[in-house]
Amino acid sequence: MAQNSSYVTVDGEFDSLEDRSFLTIDDYDLSGQNVILRIDINSSINPENGDLLDDTRIKRHSATVKELSDKYARVIVLAHQSRPGKLDFVNLEKHGERMSQIINKEIKFIDDIYGKEAIKHINNIKDGEIILLDNVRFDDEEIELSKFMNDNFDLQRKSKMVRKLSPQASFFINDAFAASHRCQPSLVGFAEDMPALAGRVMQRELDFLGKAISSGPTPRIAVLGGSKAADSVAIAENFLQKGVEKILTGGVVANIFLIASGVDIGKPSTEFIEKHIPNHETVIRLAKELLKKFKGRIEIPTDVALNIDGKRYGTNVSNLPQEHSLYDIGIDTLVNYINIIEKAGTIIANGPMGVFEDSEFATGTNEVFSAISKSDGMTVVGGGETAMAFNQMGLADGIRHISTGGGACISFMSGETMPALEAMRRSKNKFNK
Ligand code: 3PG
Repeated sequence: MAQNSSYVTVDGEFDSLEDRSFLTIDDYDLSGQNVILRIDINSSINPENGDLLDDTRIKRHSATVKELSDKYARVIVLAHQSRPGKLDFVNLEKHGERMSQIINKEIKFIDDIYGKEAIKHINNIKDGEIILLDNVRFDDEEIELSKFMNDNFDLQRKSKMVRKLSPQASFFINDAFAASHRCQPSLVGFAEDMPALAGRVMQRELDFLGKAISSGPTPRIAVLGGSKAADSVAIAENFLQKGVEKILTGGVVANIFLIASGVDIGKPSTEFIEKHIPNHETVIRLAKELLKKFKGRIEIPTDVALNIDGKRYGTNVSNLPQEHSLYDIGIDTLVNYINIIEKAGTIIANGPMGVFEDSEFATGTNEVFSAISKSDGMTVVGGGETAMAFNQMGLADGIRHISTGGGACISFMSGETMPALEAMRRSKNKFNK
């Protein structure tokens, strides 16, 4: 039974549980309880020696693990690393060692997921202790039973992992926002057998991303760039429908909108889209519809930087040459974007403005990202490559929230149904009586 009906959100406000579609750690007394905690510590790994190359996700989830242990829960951690067939598809021993250093507590790594060894250790677990079971994707069913059936999660619930581990715990805590677009047993299978609670990483992601899109301080704007143009056009549609006031476009996303508005972007950039953007005709059609439906709310570059023999050449979009590629937004566009960013109450950013890896064409991305990091508004940055760019540019400290999710963040921003969130929602309906 839920303990209380409210909790402190990331912004320090109290929201009533009824307003929330999920339960959290604050809703139950977990001391002395066995909890299954699913985290996402999928990390970059050096294929030559198996060492971790990045511990960002491990650090983020450490807070949830420590809090649960400090509250005397008996913490049984589930996580994955990579996918079958990949070089970094390894066990979680080094992840456990790293997390243990971070929280300064012992984390016992067990090289078993739900067999005899795992159950033996679970049976002996004491209040406040933490055990990390092995890479859940070593289990074939975790990969095979991942179809989202919409009306139920029976497939996943009947998996061996869930059948063996469910009787061992009273609560399932899902902290794995970065995997919540997946419908695998370890993410959705436990939620019907016991209350499924959002962990701190999950809670923070949902609070920040949700607010950035629907209810953060106004005006709310989004900066969408990069080369994943199909995703970005879908994200733009969802954002505009949910009340994001303006979308600033860059990179291939801007090129799609330029084409949709009737601009000829020249041969190489057009060919890039034809070759690399799946269903590009449909994407351009949607971009056209959005320009019409949300008139004045999608900002498209008025000038760009061309790549002419490796050098930057700024020009207006009204008469672009056929033979050169568009590599960055132009200076007038940049000034306009910075003005809009400076006045925004909420900014959500996903994707660079151009080919920023080449310093000749990094100005647009550098300046736009730098303006975002200086903003006093609520700033949220999508995970994966955008997060990496903010880190490389030394701008990450100025951002309120950087998502841990790559694919999951895109899925959330596009407004897709995410199986693991759906499982938590249904679990709340079932257990919060
Ligand atoms: C990620 O790294 O984005 C998540 O861990 C999900 O991994 P996946 O794409 O292999 O499911």
